[in-house]
Amino acid sequence: SVFENPKIASINVAHRIAGLIKSKQANNTPAVLGLATGVTPIAVYAELVRLHKEEGLSFKNVITFNLDEYYPMAPTAVQSYVTFMNENLFDHIDIDKKNVHIPDGTLALEDIPAFCLAYEKKIGDLGGLDIQILGIGRTGHIGFNEPGSAPNSGTRLVTLDDLTRRDAARDFGGKSFVPTKAITMGIGTIFKAREIILMAWSRKKASIIKKAVEGEISGEVPATYLQLSENVEFILDAPAASEL
Ligand code: GLP
Repeated sequence: SVFENPKIASINVAHRIAGLIKSKQANNTPAVLGLATGVTPIAVYAELVRLHKEEGLSFKNVITFNLDEYYPMAPTAVQSYVTFMNENLFDHIDIDKKNVHIPDGTLALEDIPAFCLAYEKKIGDLGGLDIQILGIGRTGHIGFNEPGSAPNSGTRLVTLDDLTRRDAARDFGGKSFVPTKAITMGIGTIFKAREIILMAWSRKKASIIKKAVEGEISGEVPATYLQLSENVEFILDAPAASEL
């Protein structure tokens, strides 16, 4: 769907998430959310915070799994996705912090595979993700699944694309300070979600959105794999949709 502007689109997405949370509350079951970082979902989180503060939406039954984290990365660093999620969402709602999961950027290399398997298992044991929200990187990555990622990939350590590191340079005060690696959920992990919502705003995303939606399905543009799922919805503003 194409919306008039990112704010209206984000409010729409937030209200869908809120609806899921409430329907799960009515059944006394947890809502399992897959969350994303980046500029794109910020207004979704802001609306969820508003719904909590002004309309009493509770997150007590919410369990979250973030897509990715830089590696290595201290959770306390300003650029960490832990800091991002705390500042934009978790510090302002009543979620139980033990229900929050973000890939651990402090692990020793040899401990990463076991951590990734456990991350997958936790999601699976909860019955899978109810909703996964996604942004898209200019390489066509979802999470940090860069070009070359396999459609059945699971949570794992990956090497970041040069373009991704250039795009992140501003947050780190220069590309050389951007970590070269990250831990990310896989394409396969994302695919198992019952509902996938990919959001993109602005002209800057128009050409990658065209490739993702209309391009040939290939690992060269990992987001094209989403064409294979029936549970995906692209939520765009007019500039991001302008090449479709
Ligand atoms: C990062 C994140 C992605 C995100 C992408 C786009 O690489 N790991 O999950 O989708 O950036 O970011 P933005 O929303 O800031 O354009």
